[in-house]
Amino acid sequence: MSDSGERKTRFIAFSSGKGGVGKTFLSLNVAAALATRGHSVWLFDGDMGLANVHVLLGIQPQFDISDAVAGRCTLSQTLFDGPAGIKVIPGSSGKRDMAEMGTLEMTQVVQALGTLTPAADFVIIDTGAGIGKHVTMLARLADTIVVVVRDEPASLADAYGLIKVMHQDFGNRNFEIVVNDVVSVPRGQQVFERLQQVAMRFLELNLVLGGIVPHESEVMMATRRRETLIKAAPRSLTTAAINQIAMRFEGLKVDNENSRAFLKLVGGTARTGSQ
Ligand SMILES: Nc1ncnc2c1ncn2[C@@H]1O[C@H](COP(=O)(O)OP(=O)(O)O)[C@@H](O)[C@H]1O
Ligand SMILES: [Mg+2]
Repeated sequence: MSDSGERKTRFIAFSSGKGGVGKTFLSLNVAAALATRGHSVWLFDGDMGLANVHVLLGIQPQFDISDAVAGRCTLSQTLFDGPAGIKVIPGSSGKRDMAEMGTLEMTQVVQALGTLTPAADFVIIDTGAGIGKHVTMLARLADTIVVVVRDEPASLADAYGLIKVMHQDFGNRNFEIVVNDVVSVPRGQQVFERLQQVAMRFLELNLVLGGIVPHESEVMMATRRRETLIKAAPRSLTTAAINQIAMRFEGLKVDNENSRAFLKLVGGTARTGSQ
């Protein structure tokens, strides 16, 4: 946190509306790419119902976010070291009460996250699917919302639904679209343009193309070996696309308006390590 009270940590949310489009894959790999480039990076698995960042990494955390919310541990006790030096805060999996968390609990999570991370360069948040409170409260924190889409109608429809809610209900204007798992770059460009046209026509909103990420058959093998793709296949086009996304984020500015609202929520103090 700087002397002016404004934070330096950049918050980036990966969201999508629809599940199964690559949020977790991209959050993890972009986080690892940023860390490899020398930044201190935290990855927060914000999927409150079906968290799986730790599953991808083959780790069984002793505590997860649900334990922190229930007061069984502090948020810092849930942390584990991920690839390339990233710090991972595991989400909770298969716990019904977490999937139905209310505003109060979500506020606690956001506060704890804010007090724990002032020294980080980046906090990457994998929000999980849907457009419920568990997603929107985390997405509101972000300096930019990365909307992950795939080349399929349901993904585009749900991405539009998410953008509409975040824009109309919460005033967000910064959306970066990442078209994932595409057969070709021109096809990814077309998918982006389709979403862009709809957002412009119905919301008068200009979307930014954050990246086009090709399908990569190595992903499955890397996942089985509990490795990030950027490590398992450093020369693949998909790794190159992920690195490009990471490099874009290096130029991302903290949204100061958002920052003030955020500071109000977390009480304006930075109590590192506490809950
Ligand atoms: N670019 C890609 N190439 C190949 N497989 C991918 C790619 N992106 C995602 N996948 C695979 O698609 C599946 C869904 O991805 P995941 O990150 O779990 O989606 P989400 O978090 O949005 O539900 C996973 O098996 C993942 O490994
Ligand atoms: Mg996921």
